[in-house]
Amino acid sequence: MAFISHYIRFCFFVLLFLFRISSAQLSSQYYSTTCPRALSIVRNAVVNAVVKEHRMGASLLRLHFHDCFVNGCDASVLLDDTANFTGEKTAPPNTNSLRGFEVIDTIKSQLEGACPGVVSCADILAIAARDSVVSLGGPSWTVQLGRRDSTTASLSAATSQLPSPSLNLNDLITSFSTKGFTTKELVALSGSHTTGQARCVVFRGRIHNETNIDSSFATSLKSNCTVSSGTDDSLSSLDVTSPFIFDNAYFKNLVNSKGLLHSDQQLFNGGSTDSLVTNYSTTAEAFYTDFANAMLKMGSLSPLTGTSGQVRTNCRKIN
Ligand code: HEM
Ligand SMILES: *[C@@H]1O[C@H](CO)[C@@H](O)[C@H](O)[C@H]1NC(C)=O
Ligand SMILES: *[C@@H]1O[C@H](CO)[C@@H](O)[C@H](O)[C@H]1NC(C)=O
Ligand SMILES: *[C@@H]1O[C@H](CO)[C@@H](O)[C@H](O)[C@H]1NC(C)=O
Ligand SMILES: *[C@@H]1O[C@H](CO)[C@@H](O)[C@H](O)[C@H]1NC(C)=O
Repeated sequence: MAFISHYIRFCFFVLLFLFRISSAQLSSQYYSTTCPRALSIVRNAVVNAVVKEHRMGASLLRLHFHDCFVNGCDASVLLDDTANFTGEKTAPPNTNSLRGFEVIDTIKSQLEGACPGVVSCADILAIAARDSVVSLGGPSWTVQLGRRDSTTASLSAATSQLPSPSLNLNDLITSFSTKGFTTKELVALSGSHTTGQARCVVFRGRIHNETNIDSSFATSLKSNCTVSSGTDDSLSSLDVTSPFIFDNAYFKNLVNSKGLLHSDQQLFNGGSTDSLVTNYSTTAEAFYTDFANAMLKMGSLSPLTGTSGQVRTNCRKIN
């Protein structure tokens, strides 16, 4: 009898333990009692920022990607350098390129005013990415919440874990599969390049030297992006047809050999991903569904939960 009651108690604690583990996972209701206005505060600020400058929607979406792919969605990308570590902002994929930090600061200070010390910077990035896509006319999804913020950042991780625009298809597939993504999810997530801009320095080789590019498209880009390094920072749209609309035009462009980056056109270059690109180019709904699901998956990459990490009060600094 005593044995059985011990056994029942043991089972009870096992169940309690399992429950605690599962409660450490993300939830869409995470702030519903502690900061009920959190979602609307972020949404309003994102809408205002995108109305003021349409490109900001792209920039905020990219911040979440560059956060999640480097040691998980922990807002490490937002940390300024300190005496103890060099952060991610000066890593080659980010330097002179990532933007939107001031919008995140504005959102954070509004949230600190409404519910001090509650909403993490990593969650702000996840919500802002979704609201940016919606602001530009793209699909919506329910954001999972409860991430906490890192107390460190890594320049070397940002340098090695983010994909380069010079990668060929096989290396893009490997880069994403290292993070747990299928080839289909690589293609869907790349559809983010239906908005935003890139610097000449990342597409110069493509427009001057590649052959799988529409010749009038290449010619139109060359006046802003000459072979000389003087034009490194001049910008062109990643989606030449509808740069500020989150639609499936990116895939139509690829079918027409009008991908701006080498890595973009690799997705439609006679290889295994051609049929996925064709599908998304003809069926926006297929792209939207797969994109939203892949964004949810990206947002759940190695979050800090429970008592790990902290909720920063200033996204640029640890508390
Ligand atoms: C597949 C591999 C990818 C590569 C090689 C890549 C590379 C790049 C490069 C080189 C730029 C231009 C940066 C500059 O010149 O300053 C860029 C911009 C951008 N990327 Fe990607 N990217 C990839 C995937 C993604 C993913 C998965 C997302 C989002 C989920 C994303 C979102 C964006 C956005 C929105 C922009 C425009 C940002 C702006 O205008 O501020 N990219 N990307
Ligand atoms: C660096 O790390 C030490 C020890 O953890 C800490 O006391 C100090 O505040 C840190 N400095 C900065 C600038 O974060
Ligand atoms: C084009 O390719 C040639 C040969 O590889 C190289 O020398 C040149 O720098 C490239 N030009 C551009 C603009 O990338
Ligand atoms: C060339 O640069 C100008 C000025 O920045 C810009 O308005 C224009 O859209 C660019 N053209 C292309 C094809 O990117
Ligand atoms: C297109 O993509 C959707 C969503 O992934 C999928 O359900 C559908 O079967 C695909 N269609 C074709 C023709 O591949």
